[in-house]
Amino acid sequence: MNILVTGGAGFIGSNLCRLLLEEHPEDQVSVLDALTYAGNLSTIEDLETNERFRFHQGRIEDGAAVRRVLKDDHIEALINCAAETHNDRSLLEAGDFLATNVMGVYELLEVVREMKIPKLVHVSTDEVYGSTATGAFTEESPLKPNTPYSASKAAGDLLCRAYFVSYETPVVVTRGGNTYGPYQYPEKLISFFATRLVEDKKVPVYGEGEQVREWIHVRDHASGIDAALRKGESGQIYNVSDKNERVNKEIVQILLARLGKGDELVKKIPDPRKGAHDMRYSMASEKLRSLGWAPQVPFEEGLGDAIDWYAHHQNWWRPIVAKPEFQAFIKRFYGPGLGEDL
Ligand SMILES: NC(=O)c1ccc[n+]([C@@H]2O[C@H](COP(=O)([O-])OP(=O)(O)OC[C@H]3O[C@@H](n4cnc5c(N)ncnc54)[C@H](O)[C@@H]3O)[C@@H](O)[C@H]2O)c1
Repeated sequence: MNILVTGGAGFIGSNLCRLLLEEHPEDQVSVLDALTYAGNLSTIEDLETNERFRFHQGRIEDGAAVRRVLKDDHIEALINCAAETHNDRSLLEAGDFLATNVMGVYELLEVVREMKIPKLVHVSTDEVYGSTATGAFTEESPLKPNTPYSASKAAGDLLCRAYFVSYETPVVVTRGGNTYGPYQYPEKLISFFATRLVEDKKVPVYGEGEQVREWIHVRDHASGIDAALRKGESGQIYNVSDKNERVNKEIVQILLARLGKGDELVKKIPDPRKGAHDMRYSMASEKLRSLGWAPQVPFEEGLGDAIDWYAHHQNWWRPIVAKPEFQAFIKRFYGPGLGEDL
């Protein structure tokens, strides 16, 4: 199959490209990526010599650019991993989130409809359901997004539903849990903390670190997206979850132990997200499992390997954290809490 992965120079997209090329020797994989602050060519450097891989720079809101790639590369399926993804950034400025996560998805749906592309998989998130103290969200649970990021993702999901109902556009939505693994932009919990701890810098823990997240390894998230592509039914939504709930403070202890650092590198700070900080995410994923998918990476092993990956791939993340844009964001968001420990 000829597959276009939009956002393929980001964390999940690049790992998905690796999985597609490894697991499906008959697949050709193209990437369209805007190379925003979160997308880097160094993230897909290992793929560029693969003759079944092609890279194109462009935005998903640019219908002409998307059409050109679909036509030139004879694309039969499109997987949309392109998104503005950082909750904390959306609390500072939400405009880019609406442009990519809403208008970009609209543009992809229009192009897929017009060009009769046989399948679109839209990659979404558990955060569209909001937070729950008990139980687990199913695909039927109401959408109650609590941040501009999750609201923009929910809007994209609803557009997918509307295009399926209105035009029978062959679109499948996946909703993944908190994902960890190699090549994650170093501003998300595990990649941010691992890279700071390697540098002996303090890590900011919101409040008592009591938030609960459901973690999944990026390889398992990618195989869930792949299963939805090959076996998922158009118009359906599939949760991609490993049922692996952990309290954030437990994750911090694992990071410290693995990197041989002490509690003195942890700084509790007032929660900058305030009311927008979801306490717990949890999803049921029986629907995707009924298609034969199951996560394969045990959490302790996967997390240990991921932490080691950041310790051993400083050539990947050091140029990113050295960028003025990265430093400016860290200062703006964590500066008030971290103070002189920034
Ligand atoms: N990371 C997680 O924990 C997680 C969990 C569940 C779901 N998701 C979803 O998975 C998807 C991918 O997330 P990620 O963590 O890989 O994100 P990421 O921020 O690492 O990568 C996003 C990629 O999209 C590109 N991009 C951004 N705007 C674009 C545009 N307008 N046009 C083309 N490319 C654009 C960026 O350059 C980047 O390469 C998102 O939809 C996100 O909501 C992520």
